[in-house]
Amino acid sequence: MVKSQILLHLDTDALPSVFDRVVAVDAGVEHIFSYSGVTPTNVMALVHGCIFTRGPADLKSTAIFIGGSDVAAGDALLVAVQKHFVIDFGLTVSVMLDSNGSNTTAAAAVLAASRHLDLKSAKSLILGGTGPVGQRCARLLAEEGGLVRIGSRTIDRAEAICDAIRVQVPKANVEAVATASSNDAPDALDGCDLVIAAGAPGVVLLPKRHRVNCKSLKVAIDLNGVPPEGIEGIGLGDKAKNRDDMHCYGALGIGGTKMKVHKAALGELFLRHDATLNVTAIYAIARTI
Ligand SMILES: NC(=O)c1ccc[n+]([C@@H]2O[C@H](COP(=O)([O-])OP(=O)(O)OC[C@H]3O[C@@H](n4cnc5c(N)ncnc54)[C@H](OP(=O)(O)O)[C@@H]3O)[C@@H](O)[C@H]2O)c1
Repeated sequence: MVKSQILLHLDTDALPSVFDRVVAVDAGVEHIFSYSGVTPTNVMALVHGCIFTRGPADLKSTAIFIGGSDVAAGDALLVAVQKHFVIDFGLTVSVMLDSNGSNTTAAAAVLAASRHLDLKSAKSLILGGTGPVGQRCARLLAEEGGLVRIGSRTIDRAEAICDAIRVQVPKANVEAVATASSNDAPDALDGCDLVIAAGAPGVVLLPKRHRVNCKSLKVAIDLNGVPPEGIEGIGLGDKAKNRDDMHCYGALGIGGTKMKVHKAALGELFLRHDATLNVTAIYAIARTI
C-alpha cells in the first residue's frame, strides 16, 4: 500500500509559519506536522520519528521542510537534521530549506535577471543584502560568477555576509557597501547592470532619480510587496516591464514564479528519500520551470 505523504515542518521561530503551511497544502501534501522553536539541540527525536517509523522503501513519502526567519539558523538546523540520519541503512528522508522564503524568492529573482543578463560577468547590487532573501540572492549571483555588492546600513553587517558567502562559494567576488541613506546609492550603483531591493517591507531603498541616473543599469528587481516601493517607480506587478530603458520586476512579478518554484520543490521532495534542497538545488529546479 502506498503510504500517505507527510511533511515534517520544522520552524526555527517561536510560531510555525502559516505561509509555509498554506503553500504545502496547495502543493498537495497530504499531512503537515508543524513544530516551532526547533534547534540543533532538540531536533534529534523529531528526525528519529521520521526515519524509524517507515521502512526504507517508504521513506520517500516522508520529507522535512525547514523554515523560520533566520536563514543562518535554518542552515545550522539542516546540518543537524542530516547528522541524525542513519545513512548506512538507507534511513534518510528528503529535506528542503526555505527560511523566510529566501531560497525560492532568490531563485525566482535571479532567474528573472538571467533572462536579460549574462550573470557570469554582470555587476550586481543587493540592497537590504543582509536579510535572508538578500543573502540568498547574493549567494546565487556569486555562484554565477559576476561581481556582487552587498548593501547594508551597517558596513560591518555587509562584511559579515560577504565573509559567510566566501566560505560557501570560494570563488565569490563579493564586496560590502554602506547604504545608510539614499545619498549612498550613486556610488553603490556605479557600473552595475542589476539592482535587487531585498529590504524590509515598506522601506524605500532606491529613489527613482538614482535608478534613472545610473546609465549602466539594465535590470531592476524590487522584492518588497508592501507600499511604498523598495525601488521607487517600479510597479508591484511589473514583470520584465520596460521603464526608463531597463527591465523592471515588482514583488508580484517575481512572486508568481516564487510560488511555482516553492511548490515544484515540495513535489521533488517526495520523488526520493535523500534529496537536499538548499539554495543551489532550488535554483536548479527554478531553471526547469
Ligand atoms: N516577492 C516575493 O515573492 C517575496 C517573497 C519573500 C519575501 N519578499 C520580500 O523580500 C524582502 C526581503 O525579505 P527578508 O526577509 O530578507 O527581509 P528582512 O530580513 O526583513 O530585511 C532585509 C534587510 O533590510 C534592512 N532593513 C530593515 N529595516 C530597514 C529600514 N527601516 N531601512 C532600511 N533598511 C532596513 C536590514 O538590513 P541592514 O540592517 O543590514 O541595513 C535587513 O537585513 C521583504 O520586503 C519581503 O517582504 C518578497
